[in-house]
Amino acid sequence: MEIRTAAPADAQCIAALTTELGYAADVSVMRSRLESILGRDDQHVVVAVVEGVIAGWLQARATHVLESGFRAEIVGLIVSRGFRRRGVGRRLVESALGWARKTGAGTLYVRSNTQRTESHAFYPALGFARVKTQAVYCRTVG
Ligand SMILES: CC(C)(COP(=O)(O)OP(=O)(O)OC[C@H]1O[C@@H](n2cnc3c(N)ncnc32)[C@H](O)[C@@H]1OP(=O)(O)O)[C@@H](O)C(=O)NCCC(=O)NCCS
Repeated sequence: MEIRTAAPADAQCIAALTTELGYAADVSVMRSRLESILGRDDQHVVVAVVEGVIAGWLQARATHVLESGFRAEIVGLIVSRGFRRRGVGRRLVESALGWARKTGAGTLYVRSNTQRTESHAFYPALGFARVKTQAVYCRTVG
């Protein structure tokens, strides 16, 4: 298994995995999103390549928060169904931890929908503690 930095050319595979998870993702939109974040110091976007196939991807970001200081957060992680329970997610999170350490972040956060049952077994298995449960709100900016 290889964990490498994502590239715009990965847009199709990343979009397919994202769609698999239930978020419709257009390839050209995904490519432009990748182009806008790749190369930034505050972003970590990696893919896991297994047997020549992109089996998963992870995005993390680092940010300064007035209440809690400088911190890193996993904002997206998906492993394709056919590649689960083979350590792909673990390797992607290890990559995020290594990057977070280098940025100087003291803590790595992740928020996960309560309905994603596998993730609530996964993160504790990797040493994450559940610290709170939130409601998420949004509205159009208009
Ligand atoms: C959560 C997810 C990323 C895990 O990826 P994965 O590659 O299957 O995870 P790993 O194989 O690295 O698992 C590491 C450990 O986590 C635990 N774990 C992972 N999936 C589990 C499951 N479904 N049930 C119980 N434990 C699980 C196990 O302890 C596992 O170690 P083991 O296989 O040696 O027992 C994957 O299931 C996924 O993409 N789910 C849908 C999207 C999602 O929930 N993303 C996270 C939201 S932020």
